Amino acid sequence: MLDQTTLVEKDRKHLLHPLHHPSAHEAPLVIESGHGVWLRTVDGKEYIDGLAGLWNVLVGHGNTELAEAAREQMTNLAYTSNYIGAANIPAIELADRLAGFAYPNLNTTYFTSGGAESNESAFKTVRFYWKRQGRPNKVKIIARQHGYHGVTLATMSATGLTAYWKMFEPRVPNFLHVPAPYPFRFEGDIKPGETIGQAAARALEEAIVREGADTVGAFIAEPVQGAGGVIVPPDDYFPLVREICDRYDVLLIADEVITGFGRTGEWFALDRWGVQPDIMSFAKGITSGYLPLGGIQVSDEIHDVILNAPPTERWMHAYTYSGHPTCCAVALKNLEILERDGLVERAGQMGARLLDGLKTLMEFPQVGEVRGLGLMGAVEFADRETKAPAGIGPKVQQACLERGLFIRALGDILEIAPPLIISEAEVDQMVDILAQAIIAVTGE
Ligand SMILES: Cc1ncc(COP(=O)(O)O)c(C=O)c1O
Repeated sequence: MLDQTTLVEKDRKHLLHPLHHPSAHEAPLVIESGHGVWLRTVDGKEYIDGLAGLWNVLVGHGNTELAEAAREQMTNLAYTSNYIGAANIPAIELADRLAGFAYPNLNTTYFTSGGAESNESAFKTVRFYWKRQGRPNKVKIIARQHGYHGVTLATMSATGLTAYWKMFEPRVPNFLHVPAPYPFRFEGDIKPGETIGQAAARALEEAIVREGADTVGAFIAEPVQGAGGVIVPPDDYFPLVREICDRYDVLLIADEVITGFGRTGEWFALDRWGVQPDIMSFAKGITSGYLPLGGIQVSDEIHDVILNAPPTERWMHAYTYSGHPTCCAVALKNLEILERDGLVERAGQMGARLLDGLKTLMEFPQVGEVRGLGLMGAVEFADRETKAPAGIGPKVQQACLERGLFIRALGDILEIAPPLIISEAEVDQMVDILAQAIIAVTGE
């Protein structure tokens, strides 16, 4: 068994990490095993996995049913391509299982290996769709500030967090951003009598009109913005967005990479507002992160356009691992577990408990706002009046770590999204650690 020091030495020499910088890797957690919501490091410390890996480990760590599903499929058939003219059984079964599962109008799935590949596939499908409709200029994608859609070149250009752009610009043309429906710090203009939801939706409409509806192919949005700070939109926002997209012939892409498969307490989050997208991107939770799998689901209308194209204008898009049999077999088992164990309802119940707990942190003046939906929660440190950031997020994150809670911070926003199997006592323990960490940092 290798010790922490040797492993970290090798890591520093040979491993490039996502968002790499050595200053952020001085004392990394080297995680050896996981069980339920708990992670164990090589040096024997235990932590609550407060972000469920990266929002994805819905059924928790150490699930032997998923491991067994993978073993069974691997020993039966390792891999075949799913390129047109061939197929494997788990991919067919999973596509069938997913037909109409999220939204009644989405009955067709294309599989990918993750979120960015899903959004790339969505953007290309938008182009394809409008070209086949004889409207090839509809190539612009409107996204939102604080949105996260991945960091390949095109998805980075859709991502509305500018830190991801800086060292990789110029961005891909034809992506633009409108203000997010961010109640705590809305960055657009609000007309007298308007709600924030209405103002944010109007910003989308104004962008479409300004750019010319003939040039705008789609609007992409996470139902609850995740990596950008767990931004829960007001209830009137998405119904208005749907109306605007319809009015201007703009496709609506729901990026449900985090929200899909139960995290918000609904199977899929736009459902909460009675809205259906034209394309939905998913990944993460579909396998609970046990294997990489993502995909897009397209509307029946888009599917028809793909089916009716002549062979020379086919939907010429592909990934080697589209419909990987083992990933699909694990996804099927994961869906069975989520359903059988009532984990989506559990996300709603535990989410309500988490939010109640987070609200108690408002006793600290440094906490500007707490918010959440289902098991997606956030604490934002800021002045409640001026909204000026308090500048303590990373310190509180570190203090949480020292007390056994592993979470991530986006500057002054702590993001909390544990596995859906979390117990009442573990939710309370997370809140307790957060309170202790804030006390340790602020001296309150
Ligand atoms: C909403 C959303 N979309 C897309 C992505 C990108 O997914 P991946 O990292 O699998 O490419 C993420 C990743 O966190 C995400 O949160």
